[in-house]
Amino acid sequence: MLSKKQKMEKLVDLGIVINQISDLDFMLEKVLTEARHLFSADAGSIYIKTDGKLKFSYSQNHTLQNRLEKGKKLLYTTFSIPIDNNSIAGYVANNGVILNIRDAYKIPRSYPVTFNSSFDTMVGYHTKSMLTLPLTNSRKQIVGVIQLINATDDKGKVLKFSKTDESLVQHFALYAANAIERTQMTRTTIMRMISMAELRDPKETGPHVNRVASYSVEIFEACAKKKKMPQEEIDAKRDSFRMAAMLHDVGKVAISDTILKKPGKFTYDEYEVMKTHTILGAQLFGDAQSKFDEISSIVSLTHHEKWDGTGYPGFIDINTGKSLPGYEDKNGNPRGKRKEEIPLYGRIVAIADVYDALCSSRVYKKAWTEEQVLETLQKDSGTHFDPELIDVFFDIYDVISSVSKLYPDNE
Ligand code: C2E
Ligand code: SIN
Ligand code: SIN
Ligand code: SIN
Ligand code: FE
Ligand code: FE
Repeated sequence: MLSKKQKMEKLVDLGIVINQISDLDFMLEKVLTEARHLFSADAGSIYIKTDGKLKFSYSQNHTLQNRLEKGKKLLYTTFSIPIDNNSIAGYVANNGVILNIRDAYKIPRSYPVTFNSSFDTMVGYHTKSMLTLPLTNSRKQIVGVIQLINATDDKGKVLKFSKTDESLVQHFALYAANAIERTQMTRTTIMRMISMAELRDPKETGPHVNRVASYSVEIFEACAKKKKMPQEEIDAKRDSFRMAAMLHDVGKVAISDTILKKPGKFTYDEYEVMKTHTILGAQLFGDAQSKFDEISSIVSLTHHEKWDGTGYPGFIDINTGKSLPGYEDKNGNPRGKRKEEIPLYGRIVAIADVYDALCSSRVYKKAWTEEQVLETLQKDSGTHFDPELIDVFFDIYDVISSVSKLYPDNE
């Protein structure tokens, strides 16, 4: 059994490990975007091997995207299919072969697979040419499957994928498989670290942490686009921000289990102890070695500040826990940060965290209904939350709600 101090040290090591590495979702997006450009594909999907199945993990569809209003995103979906010969992706993973299909609706009977057109029907898309290949790492293990759909010429005519595409794509697949595997390891490492540190019940923590991170990234992206932040800057920041948001409560590692896991309401004193998780978390990333440390420290420190200045821990010196000079309130305590004094990352995670906490059951409370949660967020806009960000949250609520289904609690 590791002591709290050892756990803290492990978490610091983790911070160093993940500094250089990109996040999985971001990597999938990069891989698929690149693949679609390379092969002029209108659409594509990536399946990742998870628990012995293929998990539909990321997709893009240019045609469907263009049918949406400007600024809208396609909703996230996920499902898993067995690795067997009953689907095209399953067959490719099962046999480690490339399938280059000229027309999904005219697959010859002699072919080992059939096309399932239910997705086309559901979304009103027409799949024709389809190049599906296994993502195999350098140890020859299947990491997933990438599927490119509808090779399109300059005039928008759908062609078949050529043989040259196949060899190019094989080269690309190895690069993609290794990149995906590397980032997958990062995500797994963070999750292991968090559960090793025993932040609550791991069954509760894992999905919560992933959801809070995903909501935060969605809000950030929508807000940044609204403010016309250049896409490269969004991409660069989003990457570190997701991991920082996953670690928003990492300071809870140092809070005793009697408090952390108390099945009822806190006393005043217990709450005061709990509040220090913000400072403890910030200390972990204190001597900001990298952009990632810096963002993680900001998120830990400021995710419980409130727009109207009534949050915690306020203007504090994270090393001494005392008020910063000149920021004492009338009792000599640090005053809460207000409005834009709270960094954007903290204001975003505040919304994501509370939204998720209210939607979930905890040792000390039952889950609220969606209606109650949304009413509360609306009601607390301008007091607890940044009103502009709450507007963004409601603008993209369909996306937020689709993300929540990617990380259900009972997994
Ligand atoms: P958490 O469970 O992740 O909750 C995050 C934040 O969501 C809370 O920050 C609070 O702003 C909001 N929230 C969660 N549940 C409720 C609720 O039932 N009503 C309202 N109005 N807001 C809610 P807060 O209060 O600063 O708490 C920080 C963390 O302290 C919580 O993280 C949780 O781990 C713990 N905590 C807070 N109060 C209690 C309690 O009475 N008992 C126990 N065992 N833990 C508590
Ligand atoms: C992500 O959540 O990082 C990937 C999805 C996206 O924002 O496009
Ligand atoms: C595109 O195809 O241009 C964007 C599609 C997406 O982001 O899902
Ligand atoms: C965590 O420990 O990071 C998840 C618990 C929470 O935020 O309530
Ligand atoms: Fe917190
Ligand atoms: Fe939290």
